[in-house]
Amino acid sequence: MLSFHEQYERYRCTAEELLQKAVGGMPCGTQLLKDSIAYSLLAGGKRIRPVLFLAAADALGIDYRQASDFAVALECIHTYSLIHDDLPAMDNDDYRRGKPSNHKVFGEGHAILAGDGLLSYAFELLITQCAKGEKYINAAKTLSAAAGIQGMVAGQSADLSYSGNAEGKFGKDELLRLQQDKTAKLIAAPLVMAANLAGKYEAEFEEFGLLLGSLFQITDDILDVIGESQAMGKTLGKDEKSGKLTVVSVLGLEGAQKLADERYRACLSVLDGIQVDVSFLRELVKNIRERKK
Ligand code: IPE
Ligand code: IPE
Ligand code: MG
Ligand code: MG
Ligand code: MG
Repeated sequence: MLSFHEQYERYRCTAEELLQKAVGGMPCGTQLLKDSIAYSLLAGGKRIRPVLFLAAADALGIDYRQASDFAVALECIHTYSLIHDDLPAMDNDDYRRGKPSNHKVFGEGHAILAGDGLLSYAFELLITQCAKGEKYINAAKTLSAAAGIQGMVAGQSADLSYSGNAEGKFGKDELLRLQQDKTAKLIAAPLVMAANLAGKYEAEFEEFGLLLGSLFQITDDILDVIGESQAMGKTLGKDEKSGKLTVVSVLGLEGAQKLADERYRACLSVLDGIQVDVSFLRELVKNIRERKK
């Protein structure tokens, strides 16, 4: 039996191969657009969203090869969100995935376009999957909702609106909502999509995914304060400087660690109620709680 790390690596390599193949076949109208997309999409990263899709598909007895474009679409949408998140108009970050941010290499115009291109390409993939029937349509709807105006884009809007919370006007309620939208919904999406395809455990995987996504953003906020920049592949210490509403700004470092522990336990307790083999997901929760990158 493979160890957790070996299994993660196996899923990650599968995701990596799917992305390589996708970029190879992307009919971009200009070379610059293709270079800009490839630069960010093939820059590594943990690939946690496609890994979650592959792992949940495995747990639910779905052959991922029937739906591998969903794994690609997930990472395309996530990578677009990172390229735009780093733009000067948003977080103004110069490093991502251990390299200069997309706009530092290709300029702001092509960073915006690479993001636009990745988003549109993801929807091309989703629409093609929809021809396969209702379960595929449900999975495509799950990702569309998680990405857009009630998901990641809404969360990014809240993130920008609450920045510079000088008078402490925004607190824990706003923070939890913001994190649910900007991050947790895109972490829950791959799990729910696999459940959509299986036609079972949709509610349980959604509940688990949202808790896991909350844990993921809480640890991201904590690592912005105590993490190591090289391991994370991005500039740290920026949230406080930018006046971001984070779990550390609202609860302090100790309170943030306590909330992370709470989320950790809640994740495991939801998994207890799922009657398929979720041992990989169980280990993944621990890994995210303890992550350094
Ligand atoms: C970073 O996402 C943005 C957040 C939602 C915190 P990841 O931590 O998944 O970034 P990569 O894909 O590994 O680079
Ligand atoms: C980003 O949150 C969430 C996205 C939707 C991209 P952050 O702004 O905290 O992510 P990092 O720290 O830049 O990766
Ligand atoms: Mg941001
Ligand atoms: Mg950012
Ligand atoms: Mg962050």
